[in-house]
Amino acid sequence: MEKKTFYITTPIYYPSDKLHIGHTYCTVATDAMARYKRLHGFDVCFLTGTDEHGQKIETKAGEAGVTPKEFVDRIVEGPRGVKDLWKLMNISNDRFIRTTDDYHVSAVQRIFRKMYDKGDIYKGSYKGKYCTPCESFWTDSQLKDGCCPDCGRPVVDAEEEAYFFRLSKYAGKVRDLLENTDFLQPRSRVNEMVKNFIDPGLEDLCVSRTSFTWGIPVDFDQGHVVYVWVDALFNYTTALGFLNDRYDDYEKYWPADVHFVGKEIVRFHSIIWPAMLMSMEMPLPKHVFGHGWLLLDGGKMSKSKGNVVDPYILAEQFGVDALRFFLMRTFPFGSDGNFSNELLIQTINTDLANDLGNLVSRTTAMAGKYFGGTLPQGCSRWSAPLACDTELTAMASALRGAYESQMEAYAPHNALAEVFKVIQRANKYIDETAPWALAKDMEQNGGRLAHVLYNLLEATRICGILLSPFMPESCQKLFAQIGAGADLQTWDSAGTWGALPETAATTKGENLFPRIDMDQALADLEAAEAAERQSALPAISLEPQLTEQVDFDTFCKSDFRAVKVKACEAVKKSEKLLKFTLDDGTGTDRQILSGIHKFYEPEQLVGKTLVAIVNLPPRKMMGQESCGMLLSAVHTEQGEEKLHLIIVDDAIPAGAKLC
Ligand code: ME8
Ligand code: MG
Repeated sequence: MEKKTFYITTPIYYPSDKLHIGHTYCTVATDAMARYKRLHGFDVCFLTGTDEHGQKIETKAGEAGVTPKEFVDRIVEGPRGVKDLWKLMNISNDRFIRTTDDYHVSAVQRIFRKMYDKGDIYKGSYKGKYCTPCESFWTDSQLKDGCCPDCGRPVVDAEEEAYFFRLSKYAGKVRDLLENTDFLQPRSRVNEMVKNFIDPGLEDLCVSRTSFTWGIPVDFDQGHVVYVWVDALFNYTTALGFLNDRYDDYEKYWPADVHFVGKEIVRFHSIIWPAMLMSMEMPLPKHVFGHGWLLLDGGKMSKSKGNVVDPYILAEQFGVDALRFFLMRTFPFGSDGNFSNELLIQTINTDLANDLGNLVSRTTAMAGKYFGGTLPQGCSRWSAPLACDTELTAMASALRGAYESQMEAYAPHNALAEVFKVIQRANKYIDETAPWALAKDMEQNGGRLAHVLYNLLEATRICGILLSPFMPESCQKLFAQIGAGADLQTWDSAGTWGALPETAATTKGENLFPRIDMDQALADLEAAEAAERQSALPAISLEPQLTEQVDFDTFCKSDFRAVKVKACEAVKKSEKLLKFTLDDGTGTDRQILSGIHKFYEPEQLVGKTLVAIVNLPPRKMMGQESCGMLLSAVHTEQGEEKLHLIIVDDAIPAGAKLC
């Protein structure tokens, strides 16, 4: 029998900046769902990728002095880029689309033309503002205080030729889809969409631009590029091979089972996307799920707020699985949640180190200590089970069903809560049965002790299977420690209490989740982030050279001389200034003050031959006179200012003129 398919997607990311923990959240959620479906026996296609066109990227590339393609290549494919991050996070995507891929570009051109031929895309004009000096077209919302956001000068009313999509035509059908089906989830997002966008009346959507070029060209009208959201949304179908030969899975996987998207792009996915699919006469995705945001101090995530949100740093410090687990366990998937490093560490300590880690290590340690790692035949049965035995086995046996209904409702946080109820019950079972007390009389209680440990191993195994979509690597280690081979890690066997052989070979291995010291970890994080900031800075940066010319006679008026340092001391009450007493060859000492204490200690400089300009007018600094200036070379290194005095050959006599 053919497997049932499941097609799931993440939004495709804008490679305009580095991804942070908020982006990682959505991709990890999608990955856990994809792995769960595979475990459950589905033929899964999991798509992610990058959304690489648009003005924002064109502008950023310009600022960086590279082409847009070079700019996105570096962020997508480069070290610590998007693909590297998903590899690090153990993301099991089956496909990765870049909207700059040729097959996607030509498919979008065909899609655009199809909607045009049908009459759903038409040419019109877009009313807005024009900045004549900049020759750029702006919408009202882009203006800054009513003026051009680039140059700040006044703008004039203007019309730009543009293509429009007849979104208004589909308003009724989209409303019906939202209100009368379970297309958009969670349900609360439906009211938002209907009230804010459909009730006020859907207007036709401008779907081409002429004010920049970094986009997919409209192939029948030069100068127009396709609006980035039209380009981006169709990725979900072109990545399967829709209107292209690169892939051949459209029939197999479309329509998508679910698009996971953040709440701010629900509008695009639940209104514009179905309307365009209706126009194309394509089947609609079964669900769009709008998840919430991870917030920092109640606000949108940004790097400046003191919490480390770089997923690389977090994963390197705490482990990929701990980070994945934290994201899914802590924040209800449909709502916003407050991210903090403290909360991350607390969750690891409580759930992973204390609850899960202890269960595994105590159980395998006791199996090792009392039975050499292998329990005796017959240990799975006990003639007179106690209440705690039946409670544990009943809970573990029912776990798969409870977990499944939460996962099917896109509530991974609740699915994990179900698993942890069983883990906590199992830990309590250890306290209730007190295996160490049973072990005192092995002859009398050895059978009971083996049964207790068997129940613990079996509960651990079932929990491990259901945790594996969230923490794939750690669960492999867990299975190795309790002696559960591949056939005991399956969905079927998660529903079968007693599947673990009585004589499975257990081993007490490494501690799966060591406890974390909060203060130390926070300090380490800060240090790692500071180091990363440093290394991101350009190694060496130089002052730009002046282009304005100075005529020769003016230059010759500056009198540069070799000077020898007779004495040098720090100026009292000044952190910066050094006071130099110099032999300038005239027979009278010259005094120069220089703000270079940060770079030199005075005693280092005595006896050195330096270069000074000697015909500057004298200046007073901190009540002392300075007659001239010492020359030095300056540059910036890893964000830090560097300075080197010009120290010349001691063979040059004091007072020699430099020319
Ligand atoms: O929107 N918490 O790309 P994007 C949770 N290219 N999720 C967050 C988040 C946070 N703090 N910050 C961002 C785009 N996200 C489009 C998608 S799809 C056809 C095109 C989520 O890189 C955000 O909600 O700006 C979105 O779902 C995803 O990261 C990508 O954001
Ligand atoms: Mg965004």
